[in-house]
Amino acid sequence: MALFEKKKPEVQLAPPRHIAIIMDGNGRWAKNRGLPRTAGHAAGAETFRRIANHCRALGVEYLTVYAFSTENWKRSEEEISGIMKLLKNYLMEAMRDMEKNRVRFCFFGDLTRLSPELQELCAQAESASMDYDVQVNFCLNYGGRDEIVRAARAFAAKVAAGECSPEALTEDGFSDLMYSAGVPDPELVIRPSGELRLSNFLLWQSAYSEFVYMNVLWPDFKEKDLDAAIAEFHRRNRRFGGV
Ligand code: FPP
Repeated sequence: MALFEKKKPEVQLAPPRHIAIIMDGNGRWAKNRGLPRTAGHAAGAETFRRIANHCRALGVEYLTVYAFSTENWKRSEEEISGIMKLLKNYLMEAMRDMEKNRVRFCFFGDLTRLSPELQELCAQAESASMDYDVQVNFCLNYGGRDEIVRAARAFAAKVAAGECSPEALTEDGFSDLMYSAGVPDPELVIRPSGELRLSNFLLWQSAYSEFVYMNVLWPDFKEKDLDAAIAEFHRRNRRFGGV
């Protein structure tokens, strides 16, 4: 074997521009260990940090994560405040490391139900990072149906104000009334934890997404699992209704 024999470069498939993840399985992960559910969410927040870094290293432009749904308010006070605390800690850390990481933060959802402190942090993170290119979207007090209803109301208000006619509404125009205005639809939606459902996540935006469901709980989700999901995405034959 020649001393400097060239290794064949590994074929690197381009990642999707936009990956969306339902970070599911934190509660079961904690239960399996006899820990409180909040410990599962803390482990889930760590996984998010790792996977967000990995996405950035791979060249993913947009990462959208389901952090708290409009239905999650049904959970115990303790669990809700635990998740909010993790978000607060993460955003404070993100503000501190903003210049180093150069990640743009956006929030999809009705933030008015969050604490004034968390609302303020979200606003600060959004405005301080608006010039960066790689974007993380946190779905917070987010529901896909709620988002669509809000967009419909916003359009109805324009019609009522005489600004346009009902016929003026197009799919692109409606997309512009969503929280995700300006963000390309996710090509890939990943749900770990073995559950096979969408749970009110990005209903409008995922019309032609590829779904990859994985049998690993979110706190156990590793970089190699993301790589496997991307590889699976590349095996799909995307036809968008064509042949
Ligand atoms: C779903 O798992 C997870 C949530 C409802 C919360 C997700 C929140 C985090 C990962 C922490 C957020 C913080 C950052 C920094 C991203 P589940 O609780 O429904 O799990 P289960 O189905 O096993 O009960």
